[in-house]
Amino acid sequence: MRIGILTSGGDCPGINATIRGVCKTAINHYGMEVYGIHSGFQGLIDNDMEPLTEKSMSGLLNLGGTILGTSREKPFKKRPASSTSEDKPALIAKNINSMQLDCIVCIGGNGTQKSAAKMAAMGINVVSVPKTIDNDVWGTDLSFGFDTAVSIATDAIDRLHSTASAHKRVMVIEVMGHKAGWIALYSGMAGGGDVILLPELPYNIHNIGNTIMNRLKKGKPYSIVVVGEGIATDPEGKKRAGEYIAQEIEYETGFETRETVLGYIQRGGSPTSFDRNLATRMGGHATELIATGRFGRMVSLCGDAITSVPLEEVGGKLKLVPEDHDLIVEGRKMGICFG
Ligand code: F6P
Repeated sequence: MRIGILTSGGDCPGINATIRGVCKTAINHYGMEVYGIHSGFQGLIDNDMEPLTEKSMSGLLNLGGTILGTSREKPFKKRPASSTSEDKPALIAKNINSMQLDCIVCIGGNGTQKSAAKMAAMGINVVSVPKTIDNDVWGTDLSFGFDTAVSIATDAIDRLHSTASAHKRVMVIEVMGHKAGWIALYSGMAGGGDVILLPELPYNIHNIGNTIMNRLKKGKPYSIVVVGEGIATDPEGKKRAGEYIAQEIEYETGFETRETVLGYIQRGGSPTSFDRNLATRMGGHATELIATGRFGRMVSLCGDAITSVPLEEVGGKLKLVPEDHDLIVEGRKMGICFG
């Protein structure tokens, strides 16, 4: 068989380990040929690909980013009626045919899963792997990249504790996650946040203020507030989540408050050992799906087992933090404010 592999959407730690898992299994175990497609779906549209060999897999396990490059190209996005450019899905089908690719492996987040499902619906053989630091892809318990992002954010929160306490300040840290609060919840709890705000839960600035003032009464004149980037902010939505919350806390409590936006550091660099192994398992499983002809599926982690789910069930859904997540329930009992 001859397969193509692409990486699409925002990058995250563990993509290269997945490429390695797919390719090494395909080449060494199944004797398949593998083509690396450049810059996500753009490479399929432009027929921009290169053969990958066992040698090109060296040094990938701990390498951040993606050796194939990525883009946010969405080939199935509706074209304006006036557009004269060639139909992208048709170009994709033509290029896959001319390259004689038997299957395309799509590694990506929610947008990628949606495009992969549409390609499968056109009759193209597709297998996908979920990838995002946000952990919001529906149909898998975890996606690789999340553990690395949480450990980077936790380290940042640890570092904020000492400067918060030295200056008797409130430190607000904004973490990524898009519309989901997974990174805020896991890093906030692991880093000992006093207030943790998730997009999934409403918040009240008086509750937040009370938590901070109660800490002061107990002899703790500093607090750490962890904010998911997707929380609701000012009515015009012009301010970043962290900036808005820091300002509101200062008005509410009179405490000197500073904000930190952690940003892209969360998704750069080397994956944790957990993410390397998850990426390796998922990559290997993607190749198994191809070898056994089970197309139109997304690899997923269910409990401790690697399995897969039909792609048409995944597209267009988001996996959000449930209100009754045990970290929230136990955290509330410990006195942590979730809004
Ligand atoms: O990869 C996910 C994510 O990091 C989100 O948390 C964030 O909102 C988004 O990507 C920003 O990425 P970009 O600027 O590349 O669109």
